[in-house]
Amino acid sequence: MSNHGYGPRELDLDAPSAARAYDYFLGGAHNFEPDRRFADEVRAMVPWVANVAKLNRSFLQRVVRFYLDRGITQFIDLGSGIPTVGNVHEVAQARDPEAAVVYVDFEPVAWHSAQTLLADNPRATIIQADVRDPAAILGHPDTRRLIDFSRPVGLLVVGVLLFVGPEDRPAELVAAYRRELPPGSYLALSHLTDEDADPALRADVERLIALYWSANEHVHSRTREEFASWFEGTELVSPGVTFLPDWRPDSAEERDDVARPLGYGGVGRV
Ligand SMILES: C[S@@+](CC[C@H](N)C(=O)[O-])C[C@H]1O[C@@H](n2cnc3c(N)ncnc32)[C@H](O)[C@@H]1O
Repeated sequence: MSNHGYGPRELDLDAPSAARAYDYFLGGAHNFEPDRRFADEVRAMVPWVANVAKLNRSFLQRVVRFYLDRGITQFIDLGSGIPTVGNVHEVAQARDPEAAVVYVDFEPVAWHSAQTLLADNPRATIIQADVRDPAAILGHPDTRRLIDFSRPVGLLVVGVLLFVGPEDRPAELVAAYRRELPPGSYLALSHLTDEDADPALRADVERLIALYWSANEHVHSRTREEFASWFEGTELVSPGVTFLPDWRPDSAEERDDVARPLGYGGVGRV
């Protein structure tokens, strides 16, 4: 199967990686000196950066519980990252030990740490692949083994499309996954934005993007209109596209977070 030139990343521990910096922001242990140096530099210039990571992770966990409440027991998590507390398979299998999870990430440390963690878990795995190659991921033998495409699937595309540039046509990419999902499946998306941020925060976002680009991690901010368009072909679940802390919150605690206007989230039913 052609992968259109997209594939796993090479392991390079001398250069920072966005996946390992994210792990560091969340308090994880799978990061190295260059990652921490980079993350500290970003945090010094953009103090809310770890808040965005936490709001995003918290959104992901609420979505997984929402999926379980709707009877979803099989999950595909694109750009899953380095495993950290409250992983999808932990939340899902605590509710249903037979729940199946396919994680996908192209970053070697994410892949390796997830592989180790899942070694004894027959109902969860990680594929090292590029999310821009849906055919390779959906056709992968592990996906076919664990996911039954005659039953609804919970797709998670959380905190990952900000790394996909316009040249890779994110709308078409999301549609390519959505088309393969049976009716009753769900699609969850989250993304960085700055359109409702005040000028100071917006300048911070620009700085953040510039710092990531200087580390060769190409990050993009998107408008609500563009983000919402990716749900085409689904019925948006209430409350629709919102800032991350406003999507079915467990408590009001995150609503006052300085990073609230910096991320959109939403879930659509196929
Ligand atoms: C910010 S983390 C998000 C992790 C997790 N989804 C969450 O929301 O907590 C982004 C992850 O996406 C991965 N990623 C970025 N671009 C990717 C691509 N084209 N293919 C596969 N993984 C990608 C990175 O390696 C990183 O682990």
